[in-house]
Amino acid sequence: MADLTTTFVGIKSPNPFWLASAPPTDKEYNVVRAFKAGWGGVVWKTLGAEGPPIVNVNGPRYGAIWGADRRLLGLNNIELITDRPLEVNLREIKQVKRDWPDRALVVSLMVPCDEESWKAILGHVEDTGADGVELNFGCPHGMSERGMGSAVGQVPEYIEMVTRWVKQHSRMPCIVKLTPNITDVRKPAEAAKRGGADAVSLINTINSITSVNLESFSPEPSIDGKGAHGGYCGPAVKPIALSMVSEIARHADTAGLPISGIGGITTWRDAAEFMALGAGNVQVCTAVMTYGFKIVQEMISGLSQYLDEREMAVADLVGRAVPNVTDWQYLNLNYVTKAQIDQELCIKCGRCYAACEDTSHQAIAMGQDRTFSVIDEECVACNLCIDVCPVENCITMRELEIGELDPRTGRKVAEYANWTTHPNNPMAQAAE
Ligand SMILES: Cc1cc2nc3c(=O)[nH]c(=O)nc-3n(C[C@H](O)[C@H](O)[C@H](O)COP(=O)(O)O)c2cc1C
Ligand code: SF4
Ligand code: SF4
Repeated sequence: MADLTTTFVGIKSPNPFWLASAPPTDKEYNVVRAFKAGWGGVVWKTLGAEGPPIVNVNGPRYGAIWGADRRLLGLNNIELITDRPLEVNLREIKQVKRDWPDRALVVSLMVPCDEESWKAILGHVEDTGADGVELNFGCPHGMSERGMGSAVGQVPEYIEMVTRWVKQHSRMPCIVKLTPNITDVRKPAEAAKRGGADAVSLINTINSITSVNLESFSPEPSIDGKGAHGGYCGPAVKPIALSMVSEIARHADTAGLPISGIGGITTWRDAAEFMALGAGNVQVCTAVMTYGFKIVQEMISGLSQYLDEREMAVADLVGRAVPNVTDWQYLNLNYVTKAQIDQELCIKCGRCYAACEDTSHQAIAMGQDRTFSVIDEECVACNLCIDVCPVENCITMRELEIGELDPRTGRKVAEYANWTTHPNNPMAQAAE
């Protein structure tokens, strides 16, 4: 079985699967059961400054989006940071770290944006023996209205300033958790790096309203007839998170900055994708809230088997796909494929026909007996038919060989060439 031991910003854990700061990491009772189930580390639910504990709503705090089988695809929440007393959390963190020395225990923090508040909380956390801190600059609801969370995370200068304070006043590794509620995620990542962050983690939740009740006209979840935007997470946000992780991994000014990948991770495969795009480890929240702590066992066995089959180590996987993320202008315009339908698998539902006929290139013919076939002369290989077909692998793409005739254009498939040298590009550079 592959060795999944990971060292992230100097913090060792038996595997790269950590729980993200959220209800599953809210208390000793949860974290101990998570460690027993096999999680390699946790980021403790965000602690606030000393003083009266945070107050949460007492009505529903979650909303959701489901697939047709009522599988949870997206989760929305209006929960705040921990509402348990600081001293209780600190006591439990110290105990858990003592009992589980081989697991990573990072503490998430969010306190007012002044140096004294940060200095004070860092001292308390250091006393617990925790392995590091994660700065929650991402929470998009409630705390941001009080000048914390994403209110800091949306201003790169504040990120840099607070990160610098944290590095000045503590010896612990510092992970800066980024908000996706921003136009260009590379800017806050650069700021974190300038401030001395050891790593960034992303994504926190996305501003969201999951639904509106059309009887009461209240956004859901409804608190006495009113709703507020919440933070969106779960499988639905994974593509957004993957893109943001890849942007940071391949940007010249942030390349090499360790990344903890978060957002919709449910299976070992999701985790491996984040790692291939540059994440040194991953964090999980919604999947555990949906299926429980034991899903880590599938993650461990799945990733081990994948690595064993390829004789790869975890380190070989991290960043492996980054060189293949490019800009549109460098894509090979001479790469030609054609859709093809497996008649044995086809259930004759006609979805591919409707999609291609009404919104793509009228490249699927419907025979008298509802036999569907691709017209190569029209097919631009857009992939829409594959995306809408309910039968996996019923429609696939066939790659045309170099020199083969493309019946649509009447031209032979040529070697690699991209937009930068294309004759239709007014800015085209002369081909070398
Ligand atoms: C109910 C709930 C509470 C959360 N609380 C926190 C928090 O206190 N601090 C924090 O940094 N992130 C918090 N998050 C965000 C998660 O840590 C994570 O970044 C986000 O849910 C995306 O991961 P996922 O798609 O695996 O859920 C919370 C998420 C949920 C669903
Ligand atoms: S790939 Fe696009 S153009 Fe070709 S058959 Fe499918 S939907 Fe039509
Ligand atoms: S969508 Fe798939 S299953 Fe349905 S008709 Fe087209 S090829 Fe057949």
